[in-house]
Amino acid sequence: MAILVTGGAGYIGTHACVELLNSSQEIVVVDNFSNSKQEALNRVRLLTGKDFRFYPADLLDRKSLTSVFSENEIDSVVHFAGLKAVGESAVVPLRYYDNNLTGTINLCEVMREFGVKKLVFSSSATVYGHTNNVPITEEVPLRANNPYGRTKQMIEEMLVDLYESDPTWSIALLRYFNPIGAHESGLIGEDPNGIPNNLMPYIAQVAVGKIRQLHIFGGDYPTKDGTGIRDYIHVTDLANGHLKALNYVRDSTGIQPFNLGTGRGYSVLEVVEAFENATKKHIPYRIVDRRPGDAAVCYANPEKALNELNWVAERNLEQMCRDTWHWQQWNPNGYEKKQLISASGLPYATDYTHIAPHLNQKGHKH
Ligand code: NAD
Ligand code: UFG
Repeated sequence: MAILVTGGAGYIGTHACVELLNSSQEIVVVDNFSNSKQEALNRVRLLTGKDFRFYPADLLDRKSLTSVFSENEIDSVVHFAGLKAVGESAVVPLRYYDNNLTGTINLCEVMREFGVKKLVFSSSATVYGHTNNVPITEEVPLRANNPYGRTKQMIEEMLVDLYESDPTWSIALLRYFNPIGAHESGLIGEDPNGIPNNLMPYIAQVAVGKIRQLHIFGGDYPTKDGTGIRDYIHVTDLANGHLKALNYVRDSTGIQPFNLGTGRGYSVLEVVEAFENATKKHIPYRIVDRRPGDAAVCYANPEKALNELNWVAERNLEQMCRDTWHWQQWNPNGYEKKQLISASGLPYATDYTHIAPHLNQKGHKH
């Protein structure tokens, strides 16, 4: 039996695929590459030494999705596929509602048709909107305040209705806080298109010299140093949360939300300092106006995930910064092919020694 991973070529999806393959699970991956590249999946294969079936399918195309289910023995689904940029979602809201909601409806319809009722869904702490109830528990009422966040909130509500109509479903709604970092090998990581919207990829591009300085959005929040506070979580810890959630949905029926965060908040200035300490790179910055829509403080109470999933985040901010830097340093242009033309003349995508000097040509540690 296999686990279907939708959006498996993306930032969090690739890290989850690595952890799933390393724990000997069989996976099938679907992605339309709307925000990712084939090379990311090559790297997953390289890192794990394992192969898997991949379908370059769009969740909006129900016929292709049906083929995926009829050609494979799927017993559960981890659903990452979705559009995720808050700012863009305000510019093209219908595209976000169509992709995220219709994509999920198609997926659930096909799952139902094939009797597959175990689902782990990528939700987001953005569903809480602005709240003063920190640390945030799962009981805080949902009040998303942007179109992207509302797609996540609506999908959560839709999945509750689906479960209530058929209690043989088992669904985990994973509300991620701020995923950052990269695989410790430096071979996979976050590869944003254009100028990054999020703090850590932005800092990493300043460090590598692609951007001159960081703009810190707001220095007058009611926090210890005036900058915004978030709960940053290492993407590998987050990926491992999906393995625990899969065990949970396999063993039960029901629908439950879980916060996946560390429970600890860091300010923007603390992140900059941690990055500088971990990498010995100077990050010039300038404090500018607040970014509209940003909350002052947001961090999780992750106790429910500990008690019910037996999951806890293990990696600290220093590791998050160091792993981000290795990924950025060795892949200054992300998964762009031109970075991988091998100096030693080996074919593209077989020689990784120049992007990850601590690995041999097969991608393993010396
Ligand atoms: P990502 O953009 O890197 O990955 C999403 C993947 O889904 C991409 O590879 C994209 O090509 C694919 N995709 C999108 N629409 C698709 C469709 N219709 N059919 C097939 N494939 C499609 O994003 P990520 O950071 O890996 O996020 C994964 C999930 O987690 C998303 O649902 C996102 O909303 C959610 N999330 C992310 C964050 C974050 O900060 N990264 C925080 C909270 C929640
Ligand atoms: N920030 C800056 N400068 C930047 C980028 C960000 O100062 O160039 C600040 C923000 O103001 C905020 C903090 O850094 O205080 C973190 O900002 P991010 O954009 O990295 O993350 P957000 O908390 O705004 O949002 C992220 C994801 C959302 C998700 C949310 C909760 O982008 O999709 O976490 O999970 F919903």
